[in-house]
Amino acid sequence: MRHLLSITDLTVEELDELLSSATDIEQNPEAYAHRMEGKKLATLFFEPSTRTRLSFEAAMWELGGQVLGFAGASSSSASKGESVKDTVRTVSCYADIIAMRHPLEGAPWAAVQSTTVPVINAGDGGHYHPTQTLADLMTLKKEKGRLDHLKIGLCGDLKFGRTVHSLIEALIRYPGNEFVLISPQELRVPAGIINALKEAQAPYREAVSLEEEIGGLDALYMTRIQQERFFSVEEYLRLKDSYILDEEKMRLAPKDMIVMHPLPRVNEIDVKVDADPRACYFKQVMYGKIMRKALILKLMAETELPAKPGPVKITTGRHCKNPRCISSTEQGLEPLFYPVHQIMVQGVPTRIPTRYYCAYCEMEQV
Ligand code: CP
Repeated sequence: MRHLLSITDLTVEELDELLSSATDIEQNPEAYAHRMEGKKLATLFFEPSTRTRLSFEAAMWELGGQVLGFAGASSSSASKGESVKDTVRTVSCYADIIAMRHPLEGAPWAAVQSTTVPVINAGDGGHYHPTQTLADLMTLKKEKGRLDHLKIGLCGDLKFGRTVHSLIEALIRYPGNEFVLISPQELRVPAGIINALKEAQAPYREAVSLEEEIGGLDALYMTRIQQERFFSVEEYLRLKDSYILDEEKMRLAPKDMIVMHPLPRVNEIDVKVDADPRACYFKQVMYGKIMRKALILKLMAETELPAKPGPVKITTGRHCKNPRCISSTEQGLEPLFYPVHQIMVQGVPTRIPTRYYCAYCEMEQV
């Protein structure tokens, strides 16, 4: 069976297939109206959502299927202390596919240890949000005509911005893309994403001023400073108004630059910008539903395929150091790590692990 936990679970060819499939679904919705008849999607949202949950549910309804689920941890037995693994094992008895959102990083990796149906990561804390990336890719393809040779500015909370992490991991696999990472010092892109940019040899630059960068972009991806990710209220209050895209800044932008935002927004895009033809964030919402239809069809068509072998995971006798990781709270979840082997030492191959990444949240253990 296939799951979608990270955008890198899909090859570039599969991303392109999903985009073609979505275009066909958009043009011929009636041809897909009965494809999921008799099937059920469970939406397990332990964290609030408007777009992701409702677009998954609308997608399944429009494919002829049915939906069940919960829209907050407080209305599930998670509020009584039930683990993610037990919740997902239970829901596997009722549904054919699961979309889940959780505030802790790596929670979907815990879920797949006990599921018997495909699991889709609908956002895990400040880590990943691969189905938002599907919406973002369709937006770029439709509005810019390509996914390569783009100069993309990502602005706002790049540290906890899960949509940013997944989008970068998708776009570095297309040739010629260049990234301008605009954020306050405190909210810079995490080391793991910087490593991915370096490994892909994708040109990137970290910057602070939106005004100075906006004039050279093909697409500007704005994000919210996310109050819910901060441990300190004072720190949030200090940073919350770091960037506000308004009509004055839009006058500095190229005529064909598009403005994207995963939404919800607070004040980082002035509502007056909504009338600008370059504002694409409500188009992203519609593309998200169509891409989720394509994804549900793909995963449901591949339930009988043998699982692909993943990277080797090991125990080290230690626990992950990330307090936002699912392994910090989930009972009975064995701490697992990806060892990164230093292949050559002074010209001699070695198999001694030198670095470890948590197999749930992927944070490097230092
Ligand atoms: N883009 C997004 O994830 O929105 P919601 O939080 O409303 O689902």
